[in-house]
Amino acid sequence: MSDEVAIVTGAGHPEGIGDAIAKRLRADGRTVVTADLQGADRDIDVTDSVQIDHCIRETLRDHGRIDILINNAGIAEGPAGFLEQTAETFDRTFAVNVKGMVQFSQGVIPHMQQAGKGVIVNIASLSGLRAMAGIPPAYTASKFAVVGLTKAMALEFGADNIRINAVCPGSVDTAMRAKALELLAAAETITQTEAADLENELIALGRPAAPNEIAAVVAFLCATDSNYLTGAAIPVDGGMQGGF
Ligand SMILES: NC(=O)c1ccc[n+]([C@@H]2O[C@H](COP(=O)([O-])OP(=O)(O)OC[C@H]3O[C@@H](n4cnc5c(N)ncnc54)[C@H](O)[C@@H]3O)[C@@H](O)[C@H]2O)c1
Repeated sequence: MSDEVAIVTGAGHPEGIGDAIAKRLRADGRTVVTADLQGADRDIDVTDSVQIDHCIRETLRDHGRIDILINNAGIAEGPAGFLEQTAETFDRTFAVNVKGMVQFSQGVIPHMQQAGKGVIVNIASLSGLRAMAGIPPAYTASKFAVVGLTKAMALEFGADNIRINAVCPGSVDTAMRAKALELLAAAETITQTEAADLENELIALGRPAAPNEIAAVVAFLCATDSNYLTGAAIPVDGGMQGGF
């Protein structure tokens, strides 16, 4: 796999899931190009198709191929109440979480078709499989959309030997989780430590995931060990309860 080239979006934040995925794919011997609003190899906005095309063209110019795309960029913004949901939050959440991954995938798939192989991993969420209390409804809807698109894409491009799967993390120890715990603490008038304890009680393993534990599953989905796996939405949640 040493000549394989991967693009990982949302990998500019040094403690995020994207960074852990980029580090793991590099450790496995691949060339990795990171893309994010800032702090990445390519500073781009995944809601902007022109910037995406530019990133893909430059990656092909510099490295000659794109074998793997990890659609990881995502946001969880806005209030948890459905009636408080604003049109702006809804549009922004869908622009990043759904349109971003669609446009990036549309950009790389023709090159993968030409190469006769490819792997796409979409980072969805447990919120893409179940509605969870305290999570903004636009985020839940956007992650259900990611799972649905993953399956539709897997169906369409299986014949081109392009495997497309979704990873659905529960709680992962990143800036996004810290923000969620802050909101939970404020809503319940408790401390953030108490909010973390409340969340841990829902998890069979009793703790959030470390970003590299999500990266390990992504690495498996990129490797030939998962050659017969496509269209799956894999929960990586430590046995998280709740929601429906
Ligand atoms: N942390 C969790 O508990 C958790 C749980 C389930 C799913 N996820 C998903 O995992 C992914 C990574 O999240 P994280 O926890 O590492 O959070 P994070 O906020 O650290 O990382 C998200 C990254 O996406 C980038 N991003 C946001 N908007 C962008 C845009 N328009 N263009 C380019 N990049 C953009 C951000 O700059 C950031 O670096 C997200 O898709 C998130 O929904 C996280």
